[in-house]
Amino acid sequence: MFAAWTLLLTAVIITAEFSFEKVDYLNGKHLIVATADLNPYMYIYHDSNGTIDHADGIVHEMMLWLTLKYNFTFNYVEPPDGYFGAFENGSWNGMVAMTIRKEVDLIATQLTTTYARSKVIDFTTSFSKDPMSAVIPAPKEDNFMSAIVKPFQPGVWALIIFSMFSGTTVTWIFMKLIDKHMPEHYNGGISNLQFWENFMYYFGIISSQAGRSMPSVGPLGHAVRIIAAAWCLPSVVFIYLYSGCLTSFITIPKLHPLIESLDDLATSADLKLTILKDTVFESMILEATSGGFKILGDSLRENPKNRLSKDYLEPETFLNKALTGRFAMVDQKSFLEYVLNLAFKTYGNCEVTLMKQEIVTSLDSMAVQKRSPYLAQIDQGFLTMAALGLQNYWEKRFLKKPKCEGNFDKGIAKPRLNLANLLSVFLLLVAGMRESSKTLKIDSVAHQQKNDKAIKFKI
Ligand SMILES: *[C@@H]1O[C@H](CO)[C@@H](O)[C@H](O)[C@H]1NC(C)=O
Ligand SMILES: *[C@@H]1O[C@H](CO)[C@@H](O)[C@H](O)[C@H]1NC(C)=O
Ligand SMILES: *[C@@H]1O[C@H](CO)[C@@H](O)[C@H](O)[C@H]1NC(C)=O
Repeated sequence: MFAAWTLLLTAVIITAEFSFEKVDYLNGKHLIVATADLNPYMYIYHDSNGTIDHADGIVHEMMLWLTLKYNFTFNYVEPPDGYFGAFENGSWNGMVAMTIRKEVDLIATQLTTTYARSKVIDFTTSFSKDPMSAVIPAPKEDNFMSAIVKPFQPGVWALIIFSMFSGTTVTWIFMKLIDKHMPEHYNGGISNLQFWENFMYYFGIISSQAGRSMPSVGPLGHAVRIIAAAWCLPSVVFIYLYSGCLTSFITIPKLHPLIESLDDLATSADLKLTILKDTVFESMILEATSGGFKILGDSLRENPKNRLSKDYLEPETFLNKALTGRFAMVDQKSFLEYVLNLAFKTYGNCEVTLMKQEIVTSLDSMAVQKRSPYLAQIDQGFLTMAALGLQNYWEKRFLKKPKCEGNFDKGIAKPRLNLANLLSVFLLLVAGMRESSKTLKIDSVAHQQKNDKAIKFKI
């Protein structure tokens, strides 16, 4: 009995091994692999004749690993039309079409899985998750020219100026009244303040200029002084509030991204949506019948130029359009991060950044022909790579989080003030000097005329 069991078990094991042996379809094969340049998953380098010279990137590393594991060889071909695969005018284009026509065995790039595609080709296990996002112009720092008036709202400024004039008017009228009705208590010498001299007192307090004092007039001498004292108190509040706010405005710049989400984009007057033509997300937007997506879809239909051709798969071309500052350019986040890194590397600053919201997250896979014998082994290979941590390793190597991403939402205190921060103050001084020299000129002309008159009289 036991011997029979052992025999059966051995037979089962032998059969299993035999059938496992049989599924090694890849051993010794040569595969034709469709691919398309999509940084950072796939970099394709051409020689001067335009043929593929070598490749790099996460997907390429995966291909190399698979060839070693399953002992096969391959060569890359690119789709003549440059597309990944969209259903247009009743037929598929791009690499999907090549696979349907059985011209290629495998599509190896970051191919988004969709239901429609899954009906005509077989996807492998997904190897990455890549949300859609958008590159947008970086939020600009506040304009420091306006910093000196910013701590208060215009209404507050108006009220402060109004209160200065009110105080001036009251003290001035009091002085006149005392002069008229109680002339014996009016010291005409030092207390005979003109309207503008009164005003200068109030101005002196609020601009922290000591040196002027309110003279005592009247029998008790307090009437005008009480108003002046009452003015001093709010002045202290104004001055401290102003200097506190000014400090924070200048040292902690407030940066507001122009848009944070697709809904913001739908209502934005400054930025237009652009997106690669014939991509999964573009169809989603174009097919939407309500809400923000519908508005974006309408915008795309009105501006067909914003549906980008495949030339924009080239990061430099993509970046140049983003740098015009008029578009929110939607694409896979990994690609956008690559573009941001490129922007920083090329220009050394952050003219563009990423939109905060991640839109839809798609799964990326490779794909094979329907009912391909290779699928099971490639799937097994992907699972092994994931289990070994190779995916993480390659992602760390190729996906670099750009400097220009996401450090805009926290205002970062600046270590030192720069000239731009204080430009408005210096400009004010220059304006003051110009006005002053103008006034001197007018004075001298007046003086000249007076002298001329005097000379005439003498004559
Ligand atoms: C790998 O494939 C080659 C053919 O390309 C074949 O000659 C060789 O025996 C294979 N190696 C193994 C270990 O199966
Ligand atoms: C380009 O093509 C020419 C002619 O076909 C060939 O002689 C040359 O070696 C090729 N150059 C490269 C870099 O492959
Ligand atoms: C699809 O058809 C329309 C008109 O029938 C044509 O203008 C357009 O170029 C076609 N698109 C493709 C990709 O063939």
